Amino acid sequence: MTTMTDYRRLRQQLVAGLEASGHLTSPTVAAALAAVPRHEFAPAVYRLVEGGQLGEVMRADNPACRGEYLRAVYSDEAIVTQIAPDGRPTSSSTQPGVMAVMLEALDLRPGCTVLEIGTGTGYNAALLSQILGDKAVTSVDIDPHLVTDAASSLAVAGYRPTVTAADGLSGYLPGAPYDRIIATCSVRRVPAAWLRQSHPGGLVLANLSYGVVPLRLDEDGTASGRFVRQVASFIEARPADGPLGPTVDRMVEMCMGGTGDEQAGEPADVELLVESACEFFWRLAEPGVYQAALLLSADETVHLLVDAGTDSWARVHAGRDSVRVVQAGERRVWNEVVTVCRRWRSAGRPDHDRLGLTVTPDGGHTLWVDQPDSGQSWQLTGPQTR
Ligand SMILES: C[S@@+](CC[C@H](N)C(=O)[O-])C[C@H]1O[C@@H](n2cnc3c(N)ncnc32)[C@H](O)[C@@H]1O
Repeated sequence: MTTMTDYRRLRQQLVAGLEASGHLTSPTVAAALAAVPRHEFAPAVYRLVEGGQLGEVMRADNPACRGEYLRAVYSDEAIVTQIAPDGRPTSSSTQPGVMAVMLEALDLRPGCTVLEIGTGTGYNAALLSQILGDKAVTSVDIDPHLVTDAASSLAVAGYRPTVTAADGLSGYLPGAPYDRIIATCSVRRVPAAWLRQSHPGGLVLANLSYGVVPLRLDEDGTASGRFVRQVASFIEARPADGPLGPTVDRMVEMCMGGTGDEQAGEPADVELLVESACEFFWRLAEPGVYQAALLLSADETVHLLVDAGTDSWARVHAGRDSVRVVQAGERRVWNEVVTVCRRWRSAGRPDHDRLGLTVTPDGGHTLWVDQPDSGQSWQLTGPQTR
């Protein structure tokens, strides 16, 4: 049997590990992580099975896997709590180390009000309530079942923030304006509604590409900030009626079976495509393009690129010393992504935390290196925001 003392010890070990790894420096955030019982928010979590797929469920009340369950819940790992029929995760409790970095970047002050987009398990809403008090916290999730479960987990743990089912891509007007908005799902572009629902001096913390960016609002409602050092991959925000992006199986079906225009490619461009800092950059510029790689042999990898908006695709056969590209659809996805990759190289190959973003009230996005006025900046086009 696990006692209250055992749970307290597990939380303290988690906090000590995060402090040792440098993810956690704020005493306020540390105290919240030490106080909130994460297991109350994830009574069942998915276990990774052969091939990296998510399959079996570990339940807190199953004595056979109790030890493994507790290790998963109190380790610095994201835990998947819901999957779609095709096996892709649709909800999770974010990795505690990433949550700690995000909560610190949110610059929470006594008296702040906060809107969280992506309630999920409710664990982060509990951390926010622990820090700011229930009345200051509003959290929305697009999935009403998750909201119901999160509200009861929160109540069991002793927290009563406002939790509601809503499409967070439109923010949540009833509680606006908020001093802070934090999204725990990623967006392709920062919705203009989030800026409208904060105020000058307020802060919107968004996830784009693999990055977390705290955007501080100025007097005219423009928000600006640099990406933090920590990288993380988040569940993508989905529109209320929209599909998730293509699965890898769907990408293979589209790209491997199809015929299209052929051209030779440059090995240097393939290297750029998969170089982590460059990938961070091109995914910001082309957020609707999904990428997967198939290792066909020791000498040949095939990179697949799919633009979900137009069903355009590219198949890039990268051999030992030659590259062959096949593309089809309205867009030449490979050529467009390569143009962005070369732009990153010409800009001096900036690492992701040298990049920053400015978002204007009309939804315009500008990506820049080092400073907004450094002379190295690009307008980001892409999906309209609300
Ligand atoms: C990583 S999980 C959130 C983790 C959560 N903060 C926690 O502490 O457990 C991302 C969540 O975003 C939600 N989500 C996806 N699209 C959304 C949208 N348009 N509006 C609100 N929530 C959304 C998903 O249902 C999922 O629960």
